[in-house]
Amino acid sequence: MTDKPWEHPDWYDLHDTTWTAGPEREPEHYLEMLLALPPLDARDHLIDVGAGTGKLAAIIANSYPRLGRLTLIEPNEDKLERARLRLEKILPHSDIRALAMRLGENDALPKSEATIVSIGSVLMPMMELGGGTLADGLRWLRASLADIVAILKPSAWVYAIETLAAPWARGSLDDPVRRLNMIELTDEFYREGLQAIECVYRFRDRVVLRGKVA
Ligand SMILES: C[S@@+](CC[C@H](N)C(=O)[O-])C[C@H]1O[C@@H](n2cnc3c(N)ncnc32)[C@H](O)[C@@H]1O
Repeated sequence: MTDKPWEHPDWYDLHDTTWTAGPEREPEHYLEMLLALPPLDARDHLIDVGAGTGKLAAIIANSYPRLGRLTLIEPNEDKLERARLRLEKILPHSDIRALAMRLGENDALPKSEATIVSIGSVLMPMMELGGGTLADGLRWLRASLADIVAILKPSAWVYAIETLAAPWARGSLDDPVRRLNMIELTDEFYREGLQAIECVYRFRDRVVLRGKVA
C-alpha cells in the first residue's frame, strides 16, 4: 500500500474534494456535539473557550434556555463582543461573562468554575496556525489542555469538536506542526489528566471528543 495516496490517480479522483467533513455538513456536526452533551440547567456554568462569534455557545444556549451561567473566552475582542451580544439575546436571564483571554498563554483564566467546557474547532486549527514544529504545537496544546482541566470543577466534562489530521499527514516532533490523529489527540487528553475519554461522534476528519476530570 502506498503512503502517498495523492499520487494514485483513482484515489485522487475519489478524494480530491471529499476527504474533509465539508462546510455544508457543519450544522450536522455541531448538532451531534449538542446531542452528546448532558442536560444543562440553572445550576450549570458553561465555559465556551475559543468562542469566536458565539456559534457553538448559541447552539447550546438555544437548546438549554435555563442555563445559569455562561462564560465566553475568546482573544479577538470584536468576535467576543459579537458573541456576548448574541448570547445575551438568547439567554436574557443568565449570568453571562465575556473574557478576552487565550488558552495556553498563562492568561488568568477562571479556575475550577465550569460544570462543563465546550470547545468548538479551536485546538487543532490554533495549534496548526501557531506554526513552528510539531514539538512547538504540542507545547501549546498541552498548556491549553492544562488550562481547560484547571477551568473544570471536579467531575466536570469537557466536550471538543475538532477536525483531525488527514490520514496521510506525516511528521514527527522536529517536522512542521500538523494536526493530530485520533490516537494522538486522545493521548494528549489522557496526558493532561482527563478521564473517561470517548469519541462520541465521528464523520471523516470531524470528531467530538469528551473527557472529564476526577
Ligand atoms: C475556528 S474558530 C471557532 C469559533 C467557535 N468556537 C465556533 O465553533 O464557531 C477558533 C477561535 O479560537 C480563537 N482562538 C485563537 N487562539 C486562541 C487561544 N489561544 N485560546 C482560545 N481561543 C483562541 C480564535 O480567535 C477563533 O475565534
